[in-house]
Amino acid sequence: MEFSIKSSDLGKDSYDCLVVGVFTASETSSQLSNAAQALDVLSGGYIARMIQQGDMTGKLESTVMLHHIPNLPSQRVLLVGLGKQEDFTEKSYIKAIKAAVKALNQGAISQALICLAEISVQSQPLHWKIARLVETIADVTYKFDAIKKKDADAEKNCKKSIEALHINISQVSDIKLAEVAMAEGMALAKGVSLAKDLGNLPPNVCTPTYLANQAQALANQYGFKVEVLEREAIAQLGMGSFLGVTQGSDEPPKLIVMQHLKGQNDQKPVVLVGKGITFDTGGISLKPGAEMDEMKYDMCGAASVIGTFKTIAELNLPLNVIGIIPTCENMPSGRATRPGDVLTSMSGLTIEVLNTDAEGRLILCDALTYAERFEPSAVIDIATLTGACVIALGAHASGLFSNNDALAKQLLNAGETALDRAWHMPMWDDYQPQLDSNFADMANIGGRAAGSITAACFLSRFTKKYDWAHLDIAGTAWKSGKEKGGTGRPVPLLTAFLQARIQAK
Ligand code: BES
Ligand code: MN
Ligand code: ZN
Repeated sequence: MEFSIKSSDLGKDSYDCLVVGVFTASETSSQLSNAAQALDVLSGGYIARMIQQGDMTGKLESTVMLHHIPNLPSQRVLLVGLGKQEDFTEKSYIKAIKAAVKALNQGAISQALICLAEISVQSQPLHWKIARLVETIADVTYKFDAIKKKDADAEKNCKKSIEALHINISQVSDIKLAEVAMAEGMALAKGVSLAKDLGNLPPNVCTPTYLANQAQALANQYGFKVEVLEREAIAQLGMGSFLGVTQGSDEPPKLIVMQHLKGQNDQKPVVLVGKGITFDTGGISLKPGAEMDEMKYDMCGAASVIGTFKTIAELNLPLNVIGIIPTCENMPSGRATRPGDVLTSMSGLTIEVLNTDAEGRLILCDALTYAERFEPSAVIDIATLTGACVIALGAHASGLFSNNDALAKQLLNAGETALDRAWHMPMWDDYQPQLDSNFADMANIGGRAAGSITAACFLSRFTKKYDWAHLDIAGTAWKSGKEKGGTGRPVPLLTAFLQARIQAK
């Protein structure tokens, strides 16, 4: 999909389709957006008559396709309902865009001019509106067909699909600004799409080795530094906890370290740590069979780190960012860790493994200790860590835990800006005793109560030396059911967080 910015004369320029918004009638505001108003004038009241007939009420997400409007060089006009003007929020803006794309995809349309970014969305600046527009369109037009057999005939007979979308803005003087915003939206879309791809790939393809190769390829493409530590190096570091998880699997584990160093030399880096379990069977504490295939998504934390690296590399973000990805499988076998085994982590703390299915924290704790060597300004780990987080927050928000309230606030704000929200969960010391063990410094599980909190408490024992936050993305990283697929979250949140750190400097 090609995007471009235009400041079009709707009476002169010709497109396959113009996309304009219409509000629901209310006493205080006009129904027609500025673009719809302009078309109405050009066509001698055609749009207003349509509305009078009751063919378009302006209901949010409704659409009507009009053809061959008088005095208009463009062949079609798509009216998109926006709801009441006074209720028009960021969410409605996104919904309207999605509805428009859906309608455009039904016709034989290969290029269109979208006049939605001109509409006021609360107090959001043009930059935000353009970036979100591009990102949303890329999100809804994403397809994962890399591993389906190509059907040449079907492809030939296939109706036209949209190739180019032009984004209309009202002021010519804003073109430069709008193009920057568009580039930002496209960079984000690339990172999100990569994160989705990695999540969607089957676990026999997307192995730890595959993830390491992807990181390597990305580093080569953009010229950043990457290091892949193999089992021997991992053992040398004393990562007994990480090794305890991988030991049941025939796939070799990897510790991937990526370095985007585009900030000043003396600027302390932000470290992103992503859980990279490429398949989670539960190990000896084997999971039940239902939906077990979805545990291929247990590397979505890692995917979000790799995706974010793609985005910030595209943007050439002037910041120092380190990505650390511990990646392996969690499999049962004669060599697998047993419930009751005690592992010694890199930090020296010992862990009694009471449930081999609580493996994410076991690989993360060693990666979090490893993060110390970078003298970070902040460390964020991202992990599909607990089913309990899905029960608490569902698919709408990622769980956020932190040992620093200011950092938590920055992440919450980033989530709001990016429409990729997180919710701040408590991590009071009161929960810590649930991890007590009679045989080691701690157990790896804390019982059923507050499962996502005790998981965060476990990690907090390895993050005392720096400001740290943990994002539990178990509910947000992928969708189940008919629309099963990776979401690319929280690449938008992480990107917004990193961008805000530059502005703050
Ligand atoms: N990867 C899972 C968490 C998960 C489960 C994410 C379902 C999304 C959907 C994690 O490794 C796990 O198995 N956690 C256990 C922890 C428990 C044994 C304390 C869980 O949530 O059941
Ligand atoms: Mn597990
Ligand atoms: Zn897991």
